[in-house]
Amino acid sequence: MTQSIHARYEYAHDEGRPLLGGHRGNPAQHPENTMRSFRSAIDLGCDLIECDVHLSSDGRLVVIHDHTLDRTTNGQGLVRDMSAADLRKLDAGEGEKIPLLHEVIELALGKVGLVIEIKQLPIVYEGLEEKLVNMLRQLGAVEECAVISFHHPAIRRLRDIEPRLQLGILEGARPIDPARMLKEAGADIFSPHWGAMDPEVVSQVHAAGGAVGVWTVDDDAAIAWCRYCRPDSVFTNRPAEVGPALRG
Ligand code: G3P
Ligand code: CA
Repeated sequence: MTQSIHARYEYAHDEGRPLLGGHRGNPAQHPENTMRSFRSAIDLGCDLIECDVHLSSDGRLVVIHDHTLDRTTNGQGLVRDMSAADLRKLDAGEGEKIPLLHEVIELALGKVGLVIEIKQLPIVYEGLEEKLVNMLRQLGAVEECAVISFHHPAIRRLRDIEPRLQLGILEGARPIDPARMLKEAGADIFSPHWGAMDPEVVSQVHAAGGAVGVWTVDDDAAIAWCRYCRPDSVFTNRPAEVGPALRG
């Protein structure tokens, strides 16, 4: 069923439950940010999947978390220094390849909402926002995807380019005024680490018409805090366990 990210949030809100997000897919059971990991998260019933995006040396949008290849692949060095074709020759774990973003979008369309984190810190990829919006438009995926970032100016830029896109700002601290941060960035979703959330943050964001999406909720303490604060979406590395625990 095709459903916009906005509608998914509204539906979950009406049902009184948070959306479940597979953070990098289902990395507890499969190599993170690979097609196998994303397929598994979808099979487990996640409402959303999250992925991390960089640009290759030839300007392709590729899905990998780190700026470097060393931790998650058998390659070395910076993602930005290699062409997409060469990146695709690497092993991203258990024989999986580094996905191209369009593959992940095509997988998600009609099944789950896709949350795309653009890694514009500390390296800035010139023109990434325009490339991303063009791809989402070409694939008819603008309303089924959200874009999030720790780089709030990049989110502001995306708002100016594509008003229909759901946008989220990532945050590690508890700000004085999260509603003002949302407004300045033109964002819809305030997305802190779960430990930087409190009930007042949730009510401040809701009063401003926004949603709260927290990461990375992997243990009992984090689950209990989410049940108390009631954010709108919860991203986890362990969707098989955390999904039932949150809903139970
Ligand atoms: O979903 C947000 C979260 O993914 C941000 O941190 O480092 O896991 O990409 P990171
Ligand atoms: Ca991420």
